[in-house]
Amino acid sequence: NFTSTLGGQTFNSPFLNASGIHCQTAEELADLEGVKELGGIVTKSATLEARAGNDKPRYYDLAYGSINSMGLPNSGYNFYLDYVQKEHAKPTILSVAGLSVADVIKLLKEVQASDYQGLTELNLSCPNVIGEPQTAYDFETTRKVLTEVFSFFTKPLGVKLPPYFDLVHFDQIAAVLNDFPLTHVNTINSVGNGLVVDVEKEQVVTKPKGGFGGLGGAMVLPTALANVRALRQRLNPSIAILGTGGVTTGADVFAHILCGAQLVSVGTQVIKEGLGVYARLEKELSDIMEAKGYTSLEDFRGKLQVM
Ligand code: DHB
Repeated sequence: NFTSTLGGQTFNSPFLNASGIHCQTAEELADLEGVKELGGIVTKSATLEARAGNDKPRYYDLAYGSINSMGLPNSGYNFYLDYVQKEHAKPTILSVAGLSVADVIKLLKEVQASDYQGLTELNLSCPNVIGEPQTAYDFETTRKVLTEVFSFFTKPLGVKLPPYFDLVHFDQIAAVLNDFPLTHVNTINSVGNGLVVDVEKEQVVTKPKGGFGGLGGAMVLPTALANVRALRQRLNPSIAILGTGGVTTGADVFAHILCGAQLVSVGTQVIKEGLGVYARLEKELSDIMEAKGYTSLEDFRGKLQVM
């Protein structure tokens, strides 16, 4: 039994696509609907206006993960808000990103005024928009944004966070988030501003920002697990944690759930392996659970042991 609930909705499996992965166009979203092992569908982060994103090459595949500097290419919020308001067999999560606080407020007012009753996720952590800081690294601004948002927004809302690396930062972001009626926190976004060097060419591997970009895939798994675990230990039980980052095997999914994840997203590995990854992960997770005698995710969710 793989059922999980979030924001009053039932997800038949714990798997999601990470936002930005195969979810920008109508065709890509339709492909996701066809993946039976996916529990829900997350849209590409939508901005007020459509964006072409940064110059290519803006994604580079590595043996140990990936680096990207996409720059929020997306079809604009009208397209995604239309999409989530249509009938779908799976729950949707509408991801939105503002280039300013005013944008965020305008976007969420549109969502609030619409007929959409599903989940929305505010991306506070895009590392790739040139000249824009990641909001969630500024705790005071994060509190200001959420205070304004919750003065009018009454639908299920979560936030997407960047990774934190300092235990005091976990305390500080949790103290902010616990003051708001969030359905969930999605952690982690890509690990911002890594730099990959091609030694033979003596060159960077992506064009925007002089080669700096967000890291994903296997290399970020321990960072993702630390963020899921640290936030699960600090956030109100009413705030679910969506685990994102570094999943390449069913064991990695199991680890995310053991650290407290309600649902688990897959990003880089979908790009490497295609949408068939979800069937493999589900099989591997089932095999692990069966070997351990577990029949539901609740049997081990959040039950990581310490020494
Ligand atoms: C992009 C990357 C992110 O990590 C994110 O949260 C939003 C957008 C991007 O570059 O498109």
